[in-house]
Amino acid sequence: MAKMWAGRFRKETDAMVNDFNSSIAFDRRLYREDIEGSQAHAAMLAKQGIISEEDAAAIADGLRSILEDLDAGKIDLPPEKYEDIHMAVEQLLTERIGDAGKRLHTARSRNDQVALDMRLYVLREAREIMDLTLDFIRVLLRKARENLHTVMPGYTHLQRAQPITFAHHLLAYAHMFRRDAIRLDTCMRIMRECPLGSGALAGTTYPIDRFAVSDRLGMIAPTQNSLDGVSDRDYCIELCADLSILMMHLSRLSEEVVAWCSWEFKFVELDDAYSTGSSIMPQKKNPDVCELVRGKTGRVYGSLIALLTVMKGLPLAYNKDMQEDKEAVFDAVDTVKMCLRVIAPMFETMTVLAENMKKAAYRGFINATDCADYLTKKGVPFRDAYKATGTLVARCIELDTTLDALPIEEYRAVSDQFGEDVYQAIDLAACVAGRRSMGGPAPEEVERQIETMERLLKEARPQ
Ligand code: ARG
Repeated sequence: MAKMWAGRFRKETDAMVNDFNSSIAFDRRLYREDIEGSQAHAAMLAKQGIISEEDAAAIADGLRSILEDLDAGKIDLPPEKYEDIHMAVEQLLTERIGDAGKRLHTARSRNDQVALDMRLYVLREAREIMDLTLDFIRVLLRKARENLHTVMPGYTHLQRAQPITFAHHLLAYAHMFRRDAIRLDTCMRIMRECPLGSGALAGTTYPIDRFAVSDRLGMIAPTQNSLDGVSDRDYCIELCADLSILMMHLSRLSEEVVAWCSWEFKFVELDDAYSTGSSIMPQKKNPDVCELVRGKTGRVYGSLIALLTVMKGLPLAYNKDMQEDKEAVFDAVDTVKMCLRVIAPMFETMTVLAENMKKAAYRGFINATDCADYLTKKGVPFRDAYKATGTLVARCIELDTTLDALPIEEYRAVSDQFGEDVYQAIDLAACVAGRRSMGGPAPEEVERQIETMERLLKEARPQ
């Protein structure tokens, strides 16, 4: 099959080289963006008098029919016939409308074409992933609302540290995902420049109107430099960087759910529909969804590193290496969308075992800081209060008891500043309720955080 660029060649491409070179198997997913870009380009060419209105109309109709047929799955795109999606659309167009189809590529190169297609694709997907992220935040906020008073131990070094609530813990994640959404929004803003019109690398001698094309495609402005326009893949890298951070957050949360599902914690129980069994151990109920999200984080990091590595040594302008951007970006996008889609309902349907969280909170002396604060508020210097409480904790361990159950005589033996009201001061619900400092776990403070975030979500903007 003769290539579109066959003119200067005397031999056909080797079959293996053809397969190696061809990207149609994966870049076919860009057909909508490719056709959208071509529609804008053809309309501009006609407006500028570079092609005739009749040719432009034939091109517009032809492209529309190709789009319909591709949408309907009516067109086969075998690699023996088509090198990539850009050539495929042009070839199909020429088959359908004849010579007018051959005029479409005037004042354009595949280099600016592919740069545009990828930008349009990345913009669309970034928007979708941002929306999925906002949906997941909504799930977290709903769960948080139900658990404003669910006391659990907060950890440092995975050691029980201070009392918090499950709502407070979830809000921490909601804020991470809010920043992820902001990052995607910013990434979209930066990339909204239109490279079409950069040509192969050095612009064109035709009197094109790059602003018209940029406007029609919903971009902010044309790219300013034609070399940069065709060489830049920052937007792919930035998307993958943002997705890597998002996955890192999803992975941390997944890791926690895996721990919470274990018999050692038993803080939550996953719905049967979102967990899996073992082929040999009948008792098992495994958090596979979380483990897969955690595992797939590695794939997304892989895409980011692949792109950074592909780009790091490339001279300007286009190099075929850059064709490698597609599968990395596509895989990252597919993976993140799948993870967000599956983790949201898994979370929504998960049962919170508040009693177990509370039981864990009662062991581990997580009210020791509050006990020291009690003494400090009575005028004892914090360091002395800290030491006195440490002695009490050691005594509790000796007696196998908790600060709440330790008799008042034991307290008095350590400091005469202790009164009966110490039990009220170290009561877990009181410890949580007292942490009203901004950002703290007190129920009304967490409620404030939820309301602030709900307002942001209503505006459908992450910030
Ligand atoms: N399939 C190519 C890619 O994805 C399109 C650009 C080809 N340009 C070129 N000069 N060979 O990068």
